[in-house]
Amino acid sequence: MRKISICDGWSFIENITDEFFNFTGEGTAVRLPHTCKEVPVHYMEESSCQMICGYRRHLEIPETLKGRRLFLQFDGAAHVAEIFVNDEKVMTHNGGYTAFRVEVTDKLVYGAENRIVVRLNTREDANVPPFGHVIDYMTYGGLYREAWLLLADQSYVEDVFVRTPDMNHALIDVTISQPDTNHTLELYLLDKQKKVVGQKSLKVSGASITNCSIAVSNSHAWSPETPYLYTLVAMLKNHNEDIIDEYNVSVGFRQAVFRSDGFYLNGKKYKIRGVNRHQSYPHVGYAMPASMQIEDVRILKEELHVNAVRTSHYPQSKHFLAACDRMGLLVFTETPGWQHIKNDEEWKQIVCENVEEMILQYRNHPSIILWGVRVNESQDDDVLYSKTNEIARRLDQSRQTSGVRFLWRSSLLEDVYAFNDFSHTGKNGALLPRWLISPNKKKAYLIAEFNGHMFPTKATDTPTHRLSHAIRHANVLNEVYKREDIAGAFGWCMFDYQTHGDFGSGDRICYHGIMDMYRNHKLATKVYASFSEETPVLEVGSDMHIGDYPGGSVGENYIFTNADSVRLYKNERMIREFMPVNNKYRYLPHPPIEFYDTVGNVIEEGEKYSHKKAEAIKECLLAIQRFGTALPPKYIFKAMWVMLRHLVSPVTFYKLFFKYIENWGVSAPVYRFEAIKNGQVVAEVTKASNANIHLDTTVSGTTLTEVNTFDVASVRIRVVDANNNNATYSHLPIFLKAEGAIEIVGPDCVTAEGGMCGTYVKTTGIVGDGTLTITSNQTEPIQLRFSVKIEGSGISEWN
Ligand code: GAL
Repeated sequence: MRKISICDGWSFIENITDEFFNFTGEGTAVRLPHTCKEVPVHYMEESSCQMICGYRRHLEIPETLKGRRLFLQFDGAAHVAEIFVNDEKVMTHNGGYTAFRVEVTDKLVYGAENRIVVRLNTREDANVPPFGHVIDYMTYGGLYREAWLLLADQSYVEDVFVRTPDMNHALIDVTISQPDTNHTLELYLLDKQKKVVGQKSLKVSGASITNCSIAVSNSHAWSPETPYLYTLVAMLKNHNEDIIDEYNVSVGFRQAVFRSDGFYLNGKKYKIRGVNRHQSYPHVGYAMPASMQIEDVRILKEELHVNAVRTSHYPQSKHFLAACDRMGLLVFTETPGWQHIKNDEEWKQIVCENVEEMILQYRNHPSIILWGVRVNESQDDDVLYSKTNEIARRLDQSRQTSGVRFLWRSSLLEDVYAFNDFSHTGKNGALLPRWLISPNKKKAYLIAEFNGHMFPTKATDTPTHRLSHAIRHANVLNEVYKREDIAGAFGWCMFDYQTHGDFGSGDRICYHGIMDMYRNHKLATKVYASFSEETPVLEVGSDMHIGDYPGGSVGENYIFTNADSVRLYKNERMIREFMPVNNKYRYLPHPPIEFYDTVGNVIEEGEKYSHKKAEAIKECLLAIQRFGTALPPKYIFKAMWVMLRHLVSPVTFYKLFFKYIENWGVSAPVYRFEAIKNGQVVAEVTKASNANIHLDTTVSGTTLTEVNTFDVASVRIRVVDANNNNATYSHLPIFLKAEGAIEIVGPDCVTAEGGMCGTYVKTTGIVGDGTLTITSNQTEPIQLRFSVKIEGSGISEWN
């Protein structure tokens, strides 16, 4: 089957009219992926995306295509799409999160222009999941993924499903449309170098071929560490040996099994460590092309160093899944929905259709290890969920099922009890006991969400709050790693997201992310990043500015690192080398280092005290700094004992506190931290007061390539101080100007929040160079250069 992009050449109208439908009224020229409404980041009006809008396009079909079969395919149309070809309705599709295809062979006029119209209902229509009650995320609208014209012979390979029951066999099911017994089906398994490592040839005898086995010796296993992909090619040949269709599928040899004691990948126990991801972006909601989907996988893998992601609460872009296959991320995906099940058979039927579409469309992705066949956090409905489980098990015998609950001991028709454990308050135990929650100890137990609304955290929150956010993630992860009976956990969530007015802060954002909406890092990302064994991580839980804290005391503080140790220098004087040994976090491979001592042996040397005396005094002084007026009695007694034992007066205590601890009335110190790995300094962080701010950018890529549609690059922008720390309080307007072959997605002025913001640039169908100039009134400007290439697409492919 040939896929021809029809992402270009659409005309759009917000409220569809007869004139628009008839191609007489005007529309706006758009390209897909498209959002029905660009929205502001804060205070988005949720009704602004709700409309019955129209998309239309001419489609010229050459005479030469007569005799072939043609289809239209939409990869994502939020939320109810009616497709018209030459004024005739050819299909209605319910649900915005799965692709759909319709055959239009007999509806098209050959050698002429055809009229394609999509009447798209983006409203929160109570008749279609996830709608009917409140939902904690914005659902946007539009033809927000790609669209295709598909071209096939009379007989073609409709579907291929490859399983790997063991490391030496691929089991293949093939479905052939209009099978012809004169045809042969050839199956080839290719390795990474495109070398054939297994093959089979079969006479076509019917529409379905099942359990066709190809033996492979010494196959390379697929895992997050080694995401080795093979390609299965299914070739349909006619009696003359001409290829009449070819279908390619990526294959990963892996066995993924959840058992009562955890998750096993290729026979090895494996702790799942992930985050939840919504598919939204600032300004354009869901409508981002392949490069941005792939960039999110790269961020998960290379910046957050997780090994898994949950696509909450719906199936996400094929580009995202394909990148998870390539880069090695385990995926838990699920049917669309949020808490609500409508008491209505048609609504439930759409849930079943969604499950079926999800499995048929995604079951070849080796990255997917579990199907969510319940509406997230819905009540038990054994009738409905018996059906969804049956669909999943019938369509895919290679994967287990689950469904995410907040319910304790709910009816468990699935293989895995997935639970959203929001019990952690920062002080208590990090997770509830499994026996309390799961009704069946023989089945696996997975934490599908934690933290989230329990501790919303903005980049503009106080440093104490931001540190607490990070520590809560560490607390839960430590517990997950401690408990052998937990298969793994997904933190809520990857980045802040827009939501309905019933949730979130008043500005319709849930600040639950470990990153902000532009994917800028909050401190909590360092807890995840510290799992990395390759990329050095070093961050300090405080910028060490006394004015940020009551009484000038930083209080509780941590260093996040994956190094062997961290050295602290105060005004270039070595204070102490901290080791990441922490009893509390001993289950984490690289625990956060609790850190209070900014004094080292300075008192001993400065005052010429004995080591014992200096250490005893230091302990009391640091406790005073840490706890302030809430000093625990233990330290009050200790201080009294030290005064008596070492003959130190309260006045001396007081003086020493201000001289060595409080830094009040002295020049602000410069703190420098060095992360040491294998004896080498691998990372450095300096915290010092300075007003020398400048702009810093992280760009996803400067070469943009139009393949099937426009391309986008993300530009993460930070205002930083002289030491590259976020200048947290620089709430500066940042002005953006695009020139040449690119344009800005969203507004041309954004505001730094907690020193962070961002933008996106997109191609315009023009080859050449483009520049993005970023300015603010308080910094030097930055200019980024992009080059734009076009690598063929569209209908011209036929000629
Ligand atoms: C969960 C829900 C998520 C999100 C989260 C916030 O209950 O499944 O979608 O709302 O709470 O913490």
